Amino acid sequence: MTVAIPRERRAGERRVAATPENVARLIKLGFEVRVESQAGALASFGDDDYVAAGAQVVEDPRALWAGADIVLKVQPPDLYPVLGQHEADLLPEGATLICFLWPGRNQALIERLAARKVTAIAMDQVPRISRAQKMDALSSMANIAGYRAVIEAASFYGRFFTGQMTAAGRVPPAKVLVIGAGVAGLAAIGAARGLGAIVRAFDTRPTVKEQVKSMGAEFIELNVHEDGEGGGGYAKEMSPAFIAAEMAMFAAQARDVDIIITTALIPNRPAPVLITEDMVKTMKNGSVIVDLAAENGGNCALTEPGTVVERHGVHIIGYMDLPSRLAPTASFLYGNNLGHVLADMGGGGHFHVDLEDEVVRGALVLLKGELMWPPPRREAPPPPKAPAPRPAGVAAPTAHEAKAGTGSGMGMTVALVIGALAFIGLGLVAPASFLSHLTVFALACVVGWQVVWNVTPALHTPLMSVTNAISGIIVIGGLLQVSGPLSDPAVLFGAAAILLATINIAGGFLVTQRMLKMFSRG
Ligand code: NAI
Repeated sequence: MTVAIPRERRAGERRVAATPENVARLIKLGFEVRVESQAGALASFGDDDYVAAGAQVVEDPRALWAGADIVLKVQPPDLYPVLGQHEADLLPEGATLICFLWPGRNQALIERLAARKVTAIAMDQVPRISRAQKMDALSSMANIAGYRAVIEAASFYGRFFTGQMTAAGRVPPAKVLVIGAGVAGLAAIGAARGLGAIVRAFDTRPTVKEQVKSMGAEFIELNVHEDGEGGGGYAKEMSPAFIAAEMAMFAAQARDVDIIITTALIPNRPAPVLITEDMVKTMKNGSVIVDLAAENGGNCALTEPGTVVERHGVHIIGYMDLPSRLAPTASFLYGNNLGHVLADMGGGGHFHVDLEDEVVRGALVLLKGELMWPPPRREAPPPPKAPAPRPAGVAAPTAHEAKAGTGSGMGMTVALVIGALAFIGLGLVAPASFLSHLTVFALACVVGWQVVWNVTPALHTPLMSVTNAISGIIVIGGLLQVSGPLSDPAVLFGAAAILLATINIAGGFLVTQRMLKMFSRG
């Protein structure tokens, strides 16, 4: 099965649908790969690199398209004078096209593709679900856009991001406000923090608060309580009262911060205007606004999509091609996303469209020319059944009562009675010292069990430090017991206790080391 990678022809597009590294992976998946000559030139990949990766480089674009079973592209097909033909018409009948398609706003193109009886998969329609993360090209590109937004801001901002104390004087750190902490916003926070700025962020979805804080930024909170969670990892439109409250907060922030990066977006809606001209006027001279939502109208009233303008002493950046400005990385990640889609569809050996596959079905626009978009709405799982109404005056069961259930109460009583009888029996025959040890042991078991059982999973790591400390005590106890003949059971128990506690301690150190590695740089 042949995969073709044509050269992108849209002005300003530097990305390519597969880098040489991606090509090697496609070949491993069982595809034969052909790349148009100079396809990767603007992303710093030469024809030789593709040949070394195992691809065949084709000079004539028509020959490339004509021999393809699958065409991988970045931008939707378009008419380019240099080709003398619309790219859609170059597709062989029955071929598969995978690229950004935006079917909601490209009806004419979809009809043109349908006439070619092609199967079209839109990378912009991959659903935002956990299983599809590795295929989610919008997130890959938003991540790059967030990072690049900070770099663009830095290039227009005439000062340091990080604060410095030098012999020549003190330079304060830049203050950055990030509006919208989705994929792009979080990437911007990470990049700005990495450069040493003080970063504040705001989002209508309170669930992102912990993520923002974990990246070292401050999460600004409003007194108006309204959850912006709209499902599917995206936001919902907020009430006018909420928008008014957040704009009042932005007005105050605008006077204080040096850089504002806006990423606020609700799918299929024009971007909300959150930074007004009056706010821009109050910003310090030399400040910068990067408006990532420029493509959807912009979050700043003065943004001019696609370009940079200076208004009231503030640079307002409205670039819509931020991922393309980091073409090698963007191409690699996009190529990876495509590779995962192809692997999900069976690879070179068993390539097929599985309508039961939630990811493929979500992104499928045309199947052999037949319109498949928008996909049918998946039925939401039925809501959990409401509990039967309780008679008035009866208290709700506690979590423990609920867990214990009704039938186990009797069993527990029987077990307790048997335990008590066994204890009394032992008390009558065993020596007094044994009884006191047994009491301590039983109490330790009960208390230990209760403590561990009630610790939430998030606190299991600190709990491990405590168990390490307890293991230390056990080792000391064991050491006190092991000095004696091997025939003495106390010696054997002591040795076993030392062994088990040592395993626990060593394991604790290993896990801690692995966790520290996860957070260390480089
Ligand atoms: P996302 O949906 O993950 O994040 C948007 C965030 O904005 C969400 O967390 C949402 O809760 C928040 N939000 C919505 N309304 C808000 C409001 N009124 N106030 C505060 N926060 C609000 O989207 P993603 O993937 O991070 O993309 C962000 C933006 O970047 C989009 O507009 C996207 O089109 C744009 N983008 C721009 C590129 C460029 O080159 N300029 C490239 C890639 C993405």
